[in-house]
Amino acid sequence: MIKFVKCLNLTHMIKVELDGCRPFAGNADYQEYVSRARKALMTLDSGTGAGSDFLGWNELPSETGKELTDAIMAVAESWIEKEIELIVVVGIGGSYLGAKAAIEALSHSFSREMNLTAAPRIAFAGHTLSEEYMAELMDLVYMKNTAVVVISKSGTTTEPAVAFRLLKSHLERQYGLDEAASRIVAVTDASRGALKGLADRMGYRTFVIPDNVGGRYSVLTPVGLLPIALAGFDIEALLDGARQMQRICDTPDENNPAIKYAAMRNLLYDSGRKIEILAGFNPKLAFLAEWWKQLFGESEGKEGRGIFPASVIFTTDLHSMGQYIQQGERSLFETFLNVENSRREEVIEPDEDNLDGLNFIANTNLEYCNRMAQLGTKLAHIDGGVPNITISIDQIDEYNLGQLFYFFEKACGLSAYMLGVNPFDQPGVESYKKNMFALLGKPGYEGLSEELRRRIDE
Ligand code: PA5
Repeated sequence: MIKFVKCLNLTHMIKVELDGCRPFAGNADYQEYVSRARKALMTLDSGTGAGSDFLGWNELPSETGKELTDAIMAVAESWIEKEIELIVVVGIGGSYLGAKAAIEALSHSFSREMNLTAAPRIAFAGHTLSEEYMAELMDLVYMKNTAVVVISKSGTTTEPAVAFRLLKSHLERQYGLDEAASRIVAVTDASRGALKGLADRMGYRTFVIPDNVGGRYSVLTPVGLLPIALAGFDIEALLDGARQMQRICDTPDENNPAIKYAAMRNLLYDSGRKIEILAGFNPKLAFLAEWWKQLFGESEGKEGRGIFPASVIFTTDLHSMGQYIQQGERSLFETFLNVENSRREEVIEPDEDNLDGLNFIANTNLEYCNRMAQLGTKLAHIDGGVPNITISIDQIDEYNLGQLFYFFEKACGLSAYMLGVNPFDQPGVESYKKNMFALLGKPGYEGLSEELRRRIDE
C-alpha cells in the first residue's frame, strides 16, 4: 500500500515570485509592464482583442457542470463493465498534450510495471507518423481488450486520421461493427468535419469541442477531461482548481499571478531575453512542459516575434544543459516550476562507514536535497546572468494541475496581447501540411507537388 504524505493547505494558490528578476529589471519598468498587462486583461475579458471568437476557454471552468462530468463518467463505467484493459487516445497538438501532461504528472512513475491501478492503461496514437511506433502500439492492441477515444476538432488532421483508420479497422474485424462502435468515442466539433460525419454514421458516442475553444486551450473540455477521467483521475478536483484560478485571474490586481507572469516575461523579452526555459524539478512534469511549450509557442510565435519556449528537467538536465544555461549566450531567462510539497517521503539514512561521505545529509528528506539544489541553481544562474521567475504550486495533484492549466492559459492570452499578436490563431502550421499533402499526391496539390519535387531534385 502506497502512503501519501499529508499536505496541509490544499486550497493553496499558485505563487509567482519575481525576486530572481530584480538584478535585471527595475521596479519602475516592471510597474509599466504591469499596467500594460492589466490593459491586456481588460481587452481579453471584454472580448475586444484579436481572435476574440476563440475566448470560450476563459469561462470554461465556471461553465462546466455536472452534466458533462457525469457523461464522461458514464463512458468510464461502461468500459469498466466491458473490462477494457487498454484505451488508445488518438490526437495531436492541442488534442493530445493536455491529457498526456496530466496523466504523466498524476501517475505513479512505475504504475505500469507494478499493476497499481484498476483503471485501464492509456496509450496515445495519432501524435506521430512513425510507422515503428504505430506497429508497436498495434502489437499491444492485438493483445489487449481495447477501446479508442479519437480526438480531433477539425476531424481532418492527417496524423490522428491515419492512426484512427488502423485502430477502427482492427476493432471492427475483432468485434464486429456494433461492438466496435460501443468501444469508440469521438471528441470533435459540434457539426462540421469528417470525424463528426463518421461518428454519426457509425453510431459512436460523441463529445463536443466548443467552436470558441482552440486546440491548445482545450484541456478543460472533453479533449482533456475524458482521457484524464478514463485514466482514473479526479476531474471534479481538476475543475475545482481551475475554477479557483479563474476567479483569481479575473481581478485586475497587480498580485494577479497571470498579470505578474505576463508582465515580467514581456519586460524580459523587450530587454533581449528571447528564450524562456521552463524548468521542473520532478520528471513527472516533463509533459506539462510540452503542453506549456505548445501553448506559448503557438500563441506567441508569429509575425517575426515571440519568446521561444524551451524546457528542462532539473537536476537531470543540469548535467547536460546546465553548462549552456550558466555560461552560454545571454538571451535566456528561466521559469522554475516549483512544487512545495512532495507527496512521498524518502529519508537518507546515516551510514557508519560513511564511505560516500554523505553523512552530512543523513536523516534529511531527499526532497530537501532537491530543494537545496533548486535554490543553489537559481542563485548560480542569476549570477551567470539568467533572470529567474519562480511559479510555485502546493503539490502535484488534480486540484493544483487544474490551477496551473488555467493560470498558464490566462497568462498566455495576456502575454500575447502585450506582444501585439493574436494568441488564438496558428497560420504557420499550414505550411508543412501543404507540402506534405503535395508530396503524398493528395488531389488538388498537383502544381505544388511538381514544384517541390523540382526543388528536391536540384
Ligand atoms: O492548437 C492547435 O490548434 C493545434 O495544435 C491542434 O490542436 C492540432 O493541430 C490538432 O488539431 P485537430 O484537433 O483539429 O485534429
